[in-house]
Amino acid sequence: MIRQGVSLKTYNSFGVVAKAALFAVEKSKEDLQLILKDERFRSAWILGGGSNTVFCDSPKQPIIHVDIAGIKIIEEDNDDVVINVGAGVNWHELVLWSLEQGFGGLENLSLIPGNVGAAPIQNIGAYGVELQDVFERCSFVYRNNQIIETFDKAACKFGYRDSIFKNELKNKVVITDVSLRLKKRNYKLNTSYGAIEQELLSNNISVPSPKDVSDAVINIRSTKLPDPKQLGNAGSFFKNPIVSKSQFQKLKTSFADIPHYTQPNGDYKIPAAWLIEQVGMKGIREGEVGTHKHHALVLVNYGNASGQDIKSFSLNVQEKVQNHFNILLQPEVNFCC
Ligand code: EPU
Repeated sequence: MIRQGVSLKTYNSFGVVAKAALFAVEKSKEDLQLILKDERFRSAWILGGGSNTVFCDSPKQPIIHVDIAGIKIIEEDNDDVVINVGAGVNWHELVLWSLEQGFGGLENLSLIPGNVGAAPIQNIGAYGVELQDVFERCSFVYRNNQIIETFDKAACKFGYRDSIFKNELKNKVVITDVSLRLKKRNYKLNTSYGAIEQELLSNNISVPSPKDVSDAVINIRSTKLPDPKQLGNAGSFFKNPIVSKSQFQKLKTSFADIPHYTQPNGDYKIPAAWLIEQVGMKGIREGEVGTHKHHALVLVNYGNASGQDIKSFSLNVQEKVQNHFNILLQPEVNFCC
């Protein structure tokens, strides 16, 4: 269904006011293939849950909102189940559904905003777990010829907040559905993340279920990350930068207490939130935009920010961090201008 002059305010978690000249909602693979054939939508912006998108006032591109529903079990044995999920399913609703069925694997990824179709693009992750840990395969439509293809995990080339869909296939395909392998028993819970351990301990839970871990994650996230329904935001605004060993050693001589996570290849990941806090930008407000008081990596819209306001505030953050640490923060969010 094609509509004109559609308000995008409820289609982005930042809650910015913007208007799409042309807007199409697609509820099936077949309809998606049809709209991609339409000349007017050749260069359309593909919109999922809008939790990682910053819209400028009047985006030039038409918008295709992928709204493919459905969760089905497609394989099952005594231990595992493989589910196939439509790209338009809300991620957290999927997590809750899986926990209700007694399936384990998604608990650490509770409360991540956005829809299933976006999950493989940036290999969503939280609390020591990434999408790739449960990923089986996903299908997508090529924008240029509308052919459908399915990729397994290796083909997706997952990395930290990264995949083939952000590189070789960037803007070339639209994901239609994702298949995930979950556990029916012998759960492999990951509670190594300090805050989860503490949360379980304080609730006197020594043998947690996937639901217990999910509840812990929900508690942790709700205390430090603002609810987009109350305060517009897109979760982490920047990626955590990864620096080489030599760059890290140099940083360490000037900033002895710099937090870091060593990477399997010897590089170092530095929390962007720490860098932003160090340059005095945690909890600050400039007009209608700011950084959240409990988490410096989360940019917030106090109500009337435009996409341009958010963009210029983020450039300011980037510049301060660059000047102080010589590290260029890369946005995790996408700008649709
Ligand atoms: N920190 C600060 N100041 C702050 C907040 C954090 O200095 O205001 C420092 C602390 O040293 C803390 C460290 O940053 O130990 C890491 O903070 P946190 O545990 O909150 O994780 P993060 O690296 O900021 C990442 C993901 C989140 C995910 C959490 C939990 C990225 C870009 N973000 O955040 O993902 O929920 O880990 O695993 O990797 C998202 O992508 O939208 C998102 C929220």
